Amino acid sequence: MQSKPATVVILGTGGTIAGTATLPGDNVGYSAAQLGVAQLVAAVPALGAWPIEAEQVAQIDSKDMDFAVWRRLAERVAHHLSRPQVQGIVITHGTDTLEETAYFLQRVLAPVKPVVLAAAMRPATALQADGPQNLLDAVRVARHEGARGVVAVLASQVHSGLDVRKGHTYRLDAFNAGDAGPLAHVEEGCLRQHRPWPQSEAIGLARLPADAGRWPRVEVVTSHAGAGGAVVRALCADGVQGIVVAGTGNGSVHHALLAALLDAQAAGVTVWRSSRCGAGSVIESRGDALPGAGPLTPAQARIELMLQLCG
Ligand code: SIN
Repeated sequence: MQSKPATVVILGTGGTIAGTATLPGDNVGYSAAQLGVAQLVAAVPALGAWPIEAEQVAQIDSKDMDFAVWRRLAERVAHHLSRPQVQGIVITHGTDTLEETAYFLQRVLAPVKPVVLAAAMRPATALQADGPQNLLDAVRVARHEGARGVVAVLASQVHSGLDVRKGHTYRLDAFNAGDAGPLAHVEEGCLRQHRPWPQSEAIGLARLPADAGRWPRVEVVTSHAGAGGAVVRALCADGVQGIVVAGTGNGSVHHALLAALLDAQAAGVTVWRSSRCGAGSVIESRGDALPGAGPLTPAQARIELMLQLCG
């Protein structure tokens, strides 16, 4: 008889969860991505109760995330998910671009097994590090019967990869899911679920050029008091293929910036309008000159547009 899949694969990419400081009390002046994923696993003895594999995919501060790492990470995730003995994947990641990696992986792979991003707001050397608990909670979510899709686990909260965003610079519960709210809470190892697991169509890895340097170029520009069109004109001259404008309020755009964006659109650049508010949806009205990005944050809209431009 074939046994149930039980292995959780933990893929390390760096971040504060793997960060160290010279002074134990220093939660800000530290270096991210110093400890290997095997060390992170070893620091949580409770993980010894389950079959765990660890693999280092990258070792970076996530502010430096790039398409080459995304491509490699997506390939490793897809590889391990295809193994029958694997129940789920945990990815240790920095908090700064976690929401982008979560959205990217969900849209590209739409996995039917759980892929759980785990991170920390404090380095591993902190007096009260949050990484070990977040990692343990992430593995519990990856082992949860029926779990599927890309989610993020921090501060006992589980957020859908389609909704998660960082909303605070420092607090341990720095993440939220906008209007959607948390998908679940992890309470002493048990999941209290509020919403369904994320589901979307998979764009598929095959759509992405093998050479990450050839992925479509999409940039974000921001509308604000005194905004102008110079950045948009420079981007167009530099061959940008898509622009997401992070508008004010319900996606409104300063008239000087809007004029340059309309010129860009007329020249064949795809332009989407999102909101810099951090929550809520851009609600379109008749006669809008630029299409709205709906509930997508500017960072999510940039990824979505980039994926759509892949053809
Ligand atoms: C990073 O994103 O890699 C550094 C910051 C963090 O993980 O909190």
